[in-house]
Amino acid sequence: MNTSPILSTIAVLGGTGKEGKGLAFRWAKAGYRIFIGSRNPEKAKATALEILGLLDGKAFIEGTTNIKAAQAAGIVVLTVPYPAHRETLECVREPLQGKLLVDVTVPLVPPKVTRVQMPPSGSAAQEAYAILGKNVQVTSAFQNISFEQLLHAEPVECDVLVTGTSQEARMETLKLVLAAGLTGWDAGPIENSVVVEGLTSVLININRQSGSKNAGIKITGIPKRIANTTVE
Ligand SMILES: NC(=O)c1ccc[n+]([C@@H]2O[C@H](COP(=O)([O-])OP(=O)(O)OC[C@H]3O[C@@H](n4cnc5c(N)ncnc54)[C@H](OP(=O)(O)O)[C@@H]3O)[C@@H](O)[C@H]2O)c1
Repeated sequence: MNTSPILSTIAVLGGTGKEGKGLAFRWAKAGYRIFIGSRNPEKAKATALEILGLLDGKAFIEGTTNIKAAQAAGIVVLTVPYPAHRETLECVREPLQGKLLVDVTVPLVPPKVTRVQMPPSGSAAQEAYAILGKNVQVTSAFQNISFEQLLHAEPVECDVLVTGTSQEARMETLKLVLAAGLTGWDAGPIENSVVVEGLTSVLININRQSGSKNAGIKITGIPKRIANTTVE
């Protein structure tokens, strides 16, 4: 775990949902202090208790509003459906200043979720950066990991591609990937998030064709020692 007190506190906005709850579970298990954010603090408290129960009470996890969670944490993770992306970010713009946002959002456009349909800014992560401004570092990660893989302690086979506005931000995010028990790769600048976010529609398509729920990707041909790190 990160030893810096501020970087060892994570807010998961929309953490009451499927993907956010799974990530929060894994980071709480790894020893991070977790604040579950929600539009409804009672819902967030119930989710925090649920995760605490799964960890036999051996974790720090609290539920609160999205704004209070963003205020309390050094790293803020966004796990809301794309239609809620802009509104949620505008609510937490102030408390996010000077911090790191990890955007997990995939800009799916139902009902055609098996078709890549990116927003005009290029990707959800680039849109987040435009909304939050240059005083917020933004990374993009976990879009290719199904929630089905997260809410248990088993190892996960598929990899996580991390893009972001700076190498430092990507490094902090790769630490979170490792803490969640996953293998991560520095996938370059935030502009590359278009590929990673778009890949989710490809994986949903493969899932539908195969009857699976867990299609993912794995990077091959690279020594494992380079994983979960970044080289200038
Ligand atoms: N599910 C997956 O397997 C998966 C995998 C990779 C990436 N993702 C991406 O991760 C994000 C979250 O996915 P999810 O499946 O966890 O979503 P979800 O369960 O449908 O929603 C997550 C949370 O977002 C909040 N929310 C929902 N609608 C909202 C609205 N209209 N306005 C504001 N907040 C709203 C809700 O929190 P409150 O009601 O508590 O505010 C909800 O619990 C999405 O962008 C998705 O594409 C999902």
